Amino acid sequence: MSAEVTVHPQAATGPALVADLRSDTLTRPSAGMREAMVDAPVGDDVYGEDPTVALLEQRVASLLGHEAALFMPTGSMANQVALRLHAGPGQEVISDHLAHVLRAELGAAAAYSGITTRSWVAHRGLLDVDTALAVMVADGGPYQVGTACVVVENTHNFGGGTVQPLAAMRRLREQTRQVGVGVHLDGARLWNAHVATGVPLADYGACADTVSVCLSKGLGAPVGSVLVASQERVEQARVLRKRMGGGMRQVGILAAAGAWAIEHQLDRLADDHARTSTVAGILGGAYPEVVDPAAVETNILVLDTAAVGWSGPDLVAAAAGRGVLGYPTDTRHARFVWHLDADDAMTEHAVAVLLDLLGQRGTGRST
Ligand SMILES: Cc1ncc(COP(=O)(O)O)c(C=O)c1O
Repeated sequence: MSAEVTVHPQAATGPALVADLRSDTLTRPSAGMREAMVDAPVGDDVYGEDPTVALLEQRVASLLGHEAALFMPTGSMANQVALRLHAGPGQEVISDHLAHVLRAELGAAAAYSGITTRSWVAHRGLLDVDTALAVMVADGGPYQVGTACVVVENTHNFGGGTVQPLAAMRRLREQTRQVGVGVHLDGARLWNAHVATGVPLADYGACADTVSVCLSKGLGAPVGSVLVASQERVEQARVLRKRMGGGMRQVGILAAAGAWAIEHQLDRLADDHARTSTVAGILGGAYPEVVDPAAVETNILVLDTAAVGWSGPDLVAAAAGRGVLGYPTDTRHARFVWHLDADDAMTEHAVAVLLDLLGQRGTGRST
């Protein structure tokens, strides 16, 4: 073996402990959740006859302070149906440059609904109301594309689990309402914002015409999202969902998992936040240029790896070789997400590996 090659002691056998922090979608249904699924009464939901789905929809609509709700297979479909409710072909939807609807739904708004999009650069995805309003074109007349909807993501995934301030969301709602522009809240992780701040879900819900929330992320359900809106909009959404191929049959078995998760696994999101905050404090204490611990509010840690000479993909690959799995959000950032199945031992392992790797600075690895 060449003297230059360093082999990590665990490399021969593979890491003994794997901390899988790629996403909070990786969780497995807990025993209580599986029992709830087995016992759920079901019916054909395309006929509107699944009682468990109906209960879940009522529960989520009421939590978010809206008239009605619709169970969806995924967060992407919930978002895309919502965008189609707001905008038609030739109209536009705007959001920040890191927004999931613009960056990670594979151009669905254009591909399925003929909707165009524009964005503004937002540090950590934080809502900047003045910039959003400056980008928005309430009435484009015959010359400019008219903005039908502004999308706010809370918490913000690629921004690093950023919580949007309620005051900013309220101001955006007021200003857009005055000129007849809609607001969609991509609340895939709105649960995390609620637990982190104590702001009631309905207060966030009041800031948008349509809200999507995911059951399959921090809450730990195997599948499912819910779209909430007015009764009239939800009836239209039911048609759009079916048109997109999202009509589901005896799906109460899945709705039961989501309902159980809301009752039993909502408050425990605080544990994920605490672990993420601990890691951010240690890494940010050693390398303030990589992460500002004060900005880490929920369960997502985004590291500016390039600040210490690593590209995001290279750091993620190196960490994976030592049993810490993350996700490179772009060339200079790596994301690590805490969740139901990430315990203290995994957290300690992640801290040790990431501290060590970040310490190998000045390698010229960033791109
Ligand atoms: C903010 C946000 N919105 C929407 C989605 C889409 O959810 P799904 O993967 O269920 O389509 C995600 C998924 O990660 C997300 O992070």
